[in-house]
Amino acid sequence: MDPLITTPPLPGPKAQAILRRDVGGVISQSMVREYPLVIDRAEGMNLWDVDGNRYLDFSAGIAVMNLGWNHPDVVQAASEQMQKLSHGGAFLDYCSETPVRFAEKLVSMLPRNLNRVYFSNSGGAETIEAALKLARHHTKRKYFIAFYGGFHGRTYGAVSLTAAKVIQRKHFGPFLPVVHAPYPNPYRPFGSRKATCDQDVVRHIEEEIFPMEVSPEEVAAIVVEHTGGRRIYRPADHVSEAPA
Ligand SMILES: Cc1ncc(COP(=O)(O)O)c(C=O)c1O
Repeated sequence: MDPLITTPPLPGPKAQAILRRDVGGVISQSMVREYPLVIDRAEGMNLWDVDGNRYLDFSAGIAVMNLGWNHPDVVQAASEQMQKLSHGGAFLDYCSETPVRFAEKLVSMLPRNLNRVYFSNSGGAETIEAALKLARHHTKRKYFIAFYGGFHGRTYGAVSLTAAKVIQRKHFGPFLPVVHAPYPNPYRPFGSRKATCDQDVVRHIEEEIFPMEVSPEEVAAIVVEHTGGRRIYRPADHVSEAPA
């Protein structure tokens, strides 16, 4: 395996040149590059930047690379599928066996009542949009309850639920009718005690939100991002983020 870092200080010269082109106007800067890392290739848990530096990827590619990058089984399955039938429209407008087989396999691993699969292009916003529509369609109700600190995506429904950074919402409203509640975070409890932080939030919803903001009969769904409740403690780090 080649050495880890060969061109300190980082980013190296080739990365800097690409970063300059990136911010130079050709690509929308609405999505923030969190790190000045310009990736060239990856394998397993290793990433190589364009200057040949190797990094160990402890973020699992924003948590979607649990099998590691370019896992040979995934690469083989994807390339076989691309050669056989390359476009998802073959399923959306017609039918093919692969998605049906995949859904059956997923359902076989899920709890008994989770027995139907909806495929979407993104793991976040598009799925949230579908869930909001489903909840409204089924209940005929308009409102949602979501939690402070949650990030659900950048489309209109998803950003209506999101209350993580104000810059993600600024000048985009009005949004869907969403009431936000504090998240039951035991490390920064909304009430005074860590041990009762979950009951304190339920009490807040029942005793403050329902009598004062929205009747429970009008709430279509309560949406929870299970990693929610994050708090941004260093706003200065984030003010440069452009809205997406
Ligand atoms: C917690 C969380 N929810 C939702 C989303 C939105 O997902 P996507 O951009 O795949 O639609 C993201 C993406 O950053 C996310 O981190």
